[in-house]
Amino acid sequence: MTDTAAIRSVEYEQPLVDAAGAAGATGGACATRQAWARVPPEPSAAERAALKDRVRRLLKEKDAVMVSHYYVHPDLQDLAEETGGIVSDSLEMARFGRDHTARTLVVSGVRFMGETAKILSPGKTVLMPDLDASCSLDLGCPSAAFSAFCDRYPDHTVVVYANTSAAVKARADWVVTSSCALDIVRALKDAGHRILWAPDRHLGAYIEQQTGAEMVFWPGACIVHDEFKALELALLKQAHPGAKVLVHPESPADVVDLADAVGSTSAILKAARELDAREFIVATDSGMMHKLRALNPGKTFIAAPTAGEGATCKSCTHCPWMAMNGLAGVAQVLETGANAIQVDPALIARARRPIDRMLDFTAALRGGSAPGALLAHLGAA
Ligand code: 13P
Ligand code: SF4
Repeated sequence: MTDTAAIRSVEYEQPLVDAAGAAGATGGACATRQAWARVPPEPSAAERAALKDRVRRLLKEKDAVMVSHYYVHPDLQDLAEETGGIVSDSLEMARFGRDHTARTLVVSGVRFMGETAKILSPGKTVLMPDLDASCSLDLGCPSAAFSAFCDRYPDHTVVVYANTSAAVKARADWVVTSSCALDIVRALKDAGHRILWAPDRHLGAYIEQQTGAEMVFWPGACIVHDEFKALELALLKQAHPGAKVLVHPESPADVVDLADAVGSTSAILKAARELDAREFIVATDSGMMHKLRALNPGKTFIAAPTAGEGATCKSCTHCPWMAMNGLAGVAQVLETGANAIQVDPALIARARRPIDRMLDFTAALRGGSAPGALLAHLGAA
């Protein structure tokens, strides 16, 4: 949003598409593609205080509420909570935005989070600090190629991760996030479904291993989690024998194998609170450290190792697209109404159905319902 923003180049993987237009997902071959991220400058202390005051005032004036992800700048996490908004994982961001009465949602995260909010609340204005904040999973799963991939498996139930475009969601039977993917796929498997999974191959492999479901995969990856390295992690564990290892399941399987707890961002927070240890090694985006440290004074959190600080931001453990969110951007979009998320109305109804299933399933599960009964009830068995 500002002239002085730093432009970072980013590499991500995209599955190769064959002559028939279908992704070569069964072979898992990917091409490296280039993307970019625009990271705003860090405000000075005085600028930060002034920006926070401006945002507080504008939120009231515009009947708006902040919905922030755990990976965004600490200022946007703290201000969201202080002003009656939320900082959470992607599942709870979706639920909170849908249920809140504010007319405007300011979503600090990446584009799929804003799109999900808009799909669930088409009558609300959904603003984002920077509409170009993408995700390597979303970029690596273009809807036309994905649709061709689905056409190859007409007898499979299509389960897509929330980190996808509205068009990909519109092709899905179910949308899931990392906090509910295991429960939903397990219930589907128990009901006899075969699963077409997209786009994160590591999360997909983890779910397959945990549930025993028969699955085919789209071979996407998260540029942040894909960089964690098992060998270096094993060495770090040796140096910190008392430490517990917390891993987001977008990480490679050999990293997941070393975990004491595997789960979504909210599951990582829960494990840090509940596990009996003073030291933790954390394999997820470094934005998570803010909440981990704030909620666990006296405990130490160490970043899991990657390939090292490279020329690109691939190995710095912070998502370059999450880093595009800043206080100045939030203030500016609230003031001007710029960066309102638009989703093709023709897609909204189709994309909403699999998201609603996820929200209904998880709400009922929390209420004590048996997962098997939920599938029939949701019309998706
Ligand atoms: P969570 O759903 O665990 O918050 O993850 C979202 C994400 O983008 C992780 O990289
Ligand atoms: Fe996407 Fe990875 Fe960034 Fe999450 S951390 S938004 S999965 S690129």
